[in-house]
Amino acid sequence: METQDLLINYNWKQVLNHKKITEDLQLGNSLVIIKGFPPSDDELQSFISRLGMVLNEKRNNNGKAVFDVKIARRNHFFTSIANSNLIFPLHTDCADFDIIPNTIGLLCVEPADEDEGTNHFMFLNSLLKHLSEDEKQKLLNKKWKFRNQERSILEIENGNYKICYDRITMESFSQLAKTEIEELIHLDKLFKSLSFSIKLEKGDLILFRNDLMLHGRNSIDINSNRLIKRIRFTINQV
Ligand SMILES: [Fe+2]
Repeated sequence: METQDLLINYNWKQVLNHKKITEDLQLGNSLVIIKGFPPSDDELQSFISRLGMVLNEKRNNNGKAVFDVKIARRNHFFTSIANSNLIFPLHTDCADFDIIPNTIGLLCVEPADEDEGTNHFMFLNSLLKHLSEDEKQKLLNKKWKFRNQERSILEIENGNYKICYDRITMESFSQLAKTEIEELIHLDKLFKSLSFSIKLEKGDLILFRNDLMLHGRNSIDINSNRLIKRIRFTINQV
């Protein structure tokens, strides 16, 4: 599958049709990139609020909707994995929230150097095509602990599959058996084999589904000035 087939491109300079962009994101089998987006929190929030219900982030962000993903430390510790230079394997954002926002926007204000900080994505549809019925049932039935939530990796809602996976959260809040860790190692490998990568350029706003795909990123140089503005939302139904 060519990456170009998965990307729907727009430019900030053109008249953007919010309803069309909302439709592009409905099925979760494509990503939207808007080129030339201005580096403004207000512009980002106001644009996204026309696509869906914006989530204000209480944890780590003082209730603001736009979060700066950059290397940041407090008392020598990174303030979160997003704020570290570490590799972030394929995952769902907010896997431990009561209600998981189903869409994410990432605005690249300052890209990382060359092949650092490249974003990776895996469509749930690619995974479903790969799994046997038996494997799907296993992922639908087994519950994992995501901090205070018990969730299965696959779920069917209104007849449609969705995915929830964040190995770091799953491993951090429960004592997993050796077989469970092996299962997660196997899943990580499988997800990676089905993933593709996109290197964001300055001014790219990428929009993608959080419930119909997984996302991750490569490691970054500790001294990098990479700055990505993140906003999470629940997209309007069309
Ligand atoms: Fe994330």
